[in-house]
Amino acid sequence: MKRGLFIAFEGVEGVGKSTQASLLAERVRAELQREVVLTREPGGTALAEKLRQIVLSGADGPIDDRTEALIMAAARASHVSQLIFPSLKDGRFVICDRFAGSYLAYQGFGRGLELDVLKIVTHFSSYAIDPDMTFLLQLDPAAAMARKGTSRDRIEIETDEFFARVAKGYEELSFSDSWVTLDASLSVEQLHEEIFAHVLRVIQNFGEK
Ligand code: TMP
Repeated sequence: MKRGLFIAFEGVEGVGKSTQASLLAERVRAELQREVVLTREPGGTALAEKLRQIVLSGADGPIDDRTEALIMAAARASHVSQLIFPSLKDGRFVICDRFAGSYLAYQGFGRGLELDVLKIVTHFSSYAIDPDMTFLLQLDPAAAMARKGTSRDRIEIETDEFFARVAKGYEELSFSDSWVTLDASLSVEQLHEEIFAHVLRVIQNFGEK
């Protein structure tokens, strides 16, 4: 059985993660003839999608930062155990719109919760799995936010300072070996070609895939 690859997309809102994740999924299916699970965080299972709705709508009243962090972690544990692990085990590619990088960037750098604690919670909630590669789509947060429509969720209504901290957090996380930082101001097609080229390179490095 060929091993599946676990690929995550990260970045602030409006940088085009979802578009690139879908394009990559289509290309891997078409050109590599591999089964792909295209998924997102928070979300990916029925339970995690409910948690997503709770944490992003804010419809159930105020959510303090630690509760937000624990909801994100619960969603991740459900997603990893019910969808990500089984899919990789079956040899499928998993392409995920956000993963644990978002946790450190948003709950850590954005909200200011203790990074040491969040790293332990990440290890626990993700069953210690790390993406094989993470694409960070980088764009000035204000420019990225301007690409979003007017409807904003509980996190998207945060201040410019919050998103500047998140972007700074991503920059620090991007020094990790498995992260690839890309300029999100490129055209959708150019960005996709760069992403696919990186994926092919990683597949070659991994040997038989
Ligand atoms: P999105 O799917 O539109 O990017 O919305 C997901 C939101 O959830 C986004 O604002 C980032 C946030 N988020 C966290 O704060 N922590 C996390 O661990 C994850 C996965 C997402």
